[in-house]
Amino acid sequence: MTLEEKAAFLSGKGEWESRDLKRLNIPSVFFSDGPHGIRKQAGAGDHLGLNESLPATCFPTAASVANSWDESLGEEIGRALGEEALVQDVNILLGPGLNIKRSPLCGRNFEYFSEDPYLAGKMAASYVKGIQSQGLSACPKHFAVNSQELRRMAMNAVLDERTLREIYLTGFEIAVKEGKAKAIMTSYNEVNGTYANENSHLLQDILRDEWGFDGIVVTDWGGSNDHVKGVEAGSNVEMPNPGLDSAREIVRAVEDGTLLAEAVDARVDELLDAVLYLTEQAKSKKTSFDEKAHHGLARRAAAESAVLLKNEDNILPLPARTKVALIGDFAAKPRYQGAGSSVVNAIHVESMDKIIQNYDLQTVGMARGYIRTGEADAALQKEALDIARNADAVLYCFGLDEISESEGMDRAHMRIPQNQIELLEALVKVNENVIGILSAGSAIEMPWQNSCKAILHGFLSGEAGASAILDLITGKENPSGRLSESYPIRYEDTPAYRYFPSTERTAEYRESIYVGYRYYDTSRVRVQYPFGFGLSYTEFTYSDLKISEKGISLTVENTGKYDGAEVVQLYVGLHNAIVFRPEKELKGFKKVYLKAGESRIVEIPFDDKTFRYWNVKTDQWEIEMGDYDIMAGASVSDIRLRGKLHVEGTTDIYPYNPAQLPYYYTGLVQSIHDDEFRNLLGHGIPSGKWSGEIGPNDAICQMFYAKSALARLVYNRLTAMKKKSEEAGKPDLNILFIYNMPFRGIAKMTGGMVSREMVEGMLSIVNGHFFRGAGRVIGGFFRNRKANKEYEAKLGKKR
Ligand code: BGC
Repeated sequence: MTLEEKAAFLSGKGEWESRDLKRLNIPSVFFSDGPHGIRKQAGAGDHLGLNESLPATCFPTAASVANSWDESLGEEIGRALGEEALVQDVNILLGPGLNIKRSPLCGRNFEYFSEDPYLAGKMAASYVKGIQSQGLSACPKHFAVNSQELRRMAMNAVLDERTLREIYLTGFEIAVKEGKAKAIMTSYNEVNGTYANENSHLLQDILRDEWGFDGIVVTDWGGSNDHVKGVEAGSNVEMPNPGLDSAREIVRAVEDGTLLAEAVDARVDELLDAVLYLTEQAKSKKTSFDEKAHHGLARRAAAESAVLLKNEDNILPLPARTKVALIGDFAAKPRYQGAGSSVVNAIHVESMDKIIQNYDLQTVGMARGYIRTGEADAALQKEALDIARNADAVLYCFGLDEISESEGMDRAHMRIPQNQIELLEALVKVNENVIGILSAGSAIEMPWQNSCKAILHGFLSGEAGASAILDLITGKENPSGRLSESYPIRYEDTPAYRYFPSTERTAEYRESIYVGYRYYDTSRVRVQYPFGFGLSYTEFTYSDLKISEKGISLTVENTGKYDGAEVVQLYVGLHNAIVFRPEKELKGFKKVYLKAGESRIVEIPFDDKTFRYWNVKTDQWEIEMGDYDIMAGASVSDIRLRGKLHVEGTTDIYPYNPAQLPYYYTGLVQSIHDDEFRNLLGHGIPSGKWSGEIGPNDAICQMFYAKSALARLVYNRLTAMKKKSEEAGKPDLNILFIYNMPFRGIAKMTGGMVSREMVEGMLSIVNGHFFRGAGRVIGGFFRNRKANKEYEAKLGKKR
């Protein structure tokens, strides 16, 4: 391989393909989203999906399936995804997504598993195993610390090493070590001042050296900043198609000695191994898959993942022949997935209004009830109330609308549209038996919850969600989902409330390890529904806890009238710890199915993560000596059995001076002062303020500050387009992408038409130097065209 061929091989050749090298018979491989169904675009690829993709089964999103706490289900879904991908000639599946839900407002939470790294990691590993069993690579994403959508491509996550390790990396560690992921996608953001894709601490020290990852690192789409640095740090493929500018930079860097030829060779070898393996595997491809069976799996997954939050007077399951009113726009047009790169062109979307007749219920009427984008409509409301009056129970389908959950945009608050709440409050006045059926991929405030007698949360339940919900409501299935994230009472109660989202350069993770329940439980902040919570139609009792050095065992008995499943959760804590830590942390779980009256011994082993913490002084995982609390429970707030275990420590060197970290020792982390955050970081806090001229790594939306009136005009135009799509209730993904994209992205996302030099010219214009800039853009255009032709001519020729 010539140096030119190697350099070109390290970036994509189109929206979805790696570069093939014909002279050497090296084929390309095909990438596709996504995490809960295949999004393979049939025609021209356009990243965020103006062109429709091929039909595929739409499974519930990760935020839903995480509530199943069922790794075997995750593996089954992974297998089905892998099978469909294989049929569509996809080699690398861009998922699962397992970023930590730092704040309920992250626009992409619906695509992620949990606020807890252990649960997220275990579920992700199960998907990876399933997908890869079909001869594909899974590509867990986005590595790492990608917790907000606003300016996601131009944001620097600032956090201490312990928080990085314990909260933001542990899930990936599990997906890599246990799932054996063969690919990983880097995130757009910087982590402590270095882009994730150029971060040798993340990619080399941790991913490859510590975790033994031997697969390929792929950039997020348009996420590469400087691929010379990427290659040096351990990144293989720059996607989607930066043109040959990037390859030229690699060649130049090798020639002038700033990049070692050995680094290029190592990245090429890793990529070549992957390409050859994947194309060999694809030879045994199938030509079809069983659509019916996959739909059935989507239904089972949705049923297993729904969470029964409330069931006053045991109103559910509904007895046969109950007279029901089916109310809500979501009953006819379900919200079953989120918006963005994960959108699946679902094969067969069910809706409750069409299938309710298959159940033993008497439907007295159906009504739309509200306009999903929030406008009040008295006529719709009246129609709904008239129907509700005549029913024994109201099935009220409501939740978050499309615009609330989208890639590229964080939510502004945690509320559902007010018109839906007004209808609910009116409904309960005419019929006290309102059964709320929620659709939402992320946590919401529920001040209205007393208006519902029962609440069944379906999350974003995929194409077969409607029958899953009706199966649960009628008792054909027994709810067994448990919340994979806490539901706080108010947004203001969340730990990162004051720090999220960052609006300028840096996102400061001042709340540290106190994410989700780790905060609420430690700081005694009341929540609406705790992590791990979920009701069942039956009851389970726990007894006979035995603790050994290897793990715990206990007996669980189904003492109710229905068969059903319980999720037994293992939490570990250490009182009066020398190293500050959450009150308790999830360290294991097991889902058990028990017939009514049946009991079983459940064993949950300890593992390498049970007692460890990251010690910033010794720079490694350590164990603090002590008498640990070992707790088995049905949620973080419902511990049924507890005991103690003495564990020896691994070091006498402790990382912190408690006097310097008073609030971290209490867990009250909502307003950490600069000094204390500095003490935690162990260095100064980088300035987050944006100032000066706009540079290649500033987002396009920062043209707000531009000197040039023309640039401000473009900014205003883009903002108006973004606003218009928001008002229409449908996110425009491409606009959102451009809005948050840094200027360098123009060179990285245009398939070689625009070079870095041309972008610099554009920036000169934006910064008020019109003629100088225009000269560089025009001159750069011709220079780029010539250089591209010369490079292409070299590709394929032997040296
Ligand atoms: C998203 C990734 C996705 C990629 C390709 C990016 O904008 O962040 O999750 O896999 O696009 O569609």
